[in-house]
Amino acid sequence: MTTPPLIIPATPADAGEILTVQRAAYVTEAQQYADPLLPPLTETLEEILAALAGPETVLVARAGHRLIGSVRARVADDTAHVGRLAVAPDQQGRGIGPLLLRAVEAACADRVSRFVLFTGAASERNLRLYRRHGYEIVGNRPDANGISLAVLEKRLVKAAHSDA
Ligand SMILES: CC(C)(COP(=O)(O)OP(=O)(O)OC[C@H]1O[C@@H](n2cnc3c(N)ncnc32)[C@H](O)[C@@H]1OP(=O)(O)O)[C@@H](O)C(=O)NCCC(=O)NCCS
Repeated sequence: MTTPPLIIPATPADAGEILTVQRAAYVTEAQQYADPLLPPLTETLEEILAALAGPETVLVARAGHRLIGSVRARVADDTAHVGRLAVAPDQQGRGIGPLLLRAVEAACADRVSRFVLFTGAASERNLRLYRRHGYEIVGNRPDANGISLAVLEKRLVKAAHSDA
């Protein structure tokens, strides 16, 4: 990577580009599982706008004027549910996915004690990426269409507070 992209909170004006990047990125997953109806591919512009208007953390990676990646996290109780990590196909393999992942974790870290996400159980490239970032597989479940998903978790170790 030359100049690293800016990782910044998304605005409603980003919705169209998020939709475009998400759809382009997830095509390889759809091909791997022979399922064109994966949720990131069927999500509509309206649903993305709704996510942007709600409490979810939505971040984007920008290189100049171009949106090249995005990620989201929803906090429930002590858990941040991370999802929709996507990098434009021509920009993959340059460490942008890890930048987005670390940024969304940092944005939620003061509110949670663990991060949870899932990916296709056969998506070795994704599993490698998440393992490198401290996630471990804690379970498996089928998605709505029967594809096996690996559920991964990363627990935050917070520094003990001392009054001394
Ligand atoms: C998963 C994803 C976000 C990773 O982002 P990234 O910026 O490419 O991440 P990295 O640069 O760290 O590359 C991750 C790995 O993919 C490899 N890679 C990247 N682009 C590739 C490509 N087109 N073909 C094969 N391997 C590729 C990298 O070499 C690296 O491999 P390694 O684990 O052996 O080192 C991105 O590949 C993507 O958008 N994938 C499609 C959507 C998806 O599956 N999202 C995650 C769902 S849980």
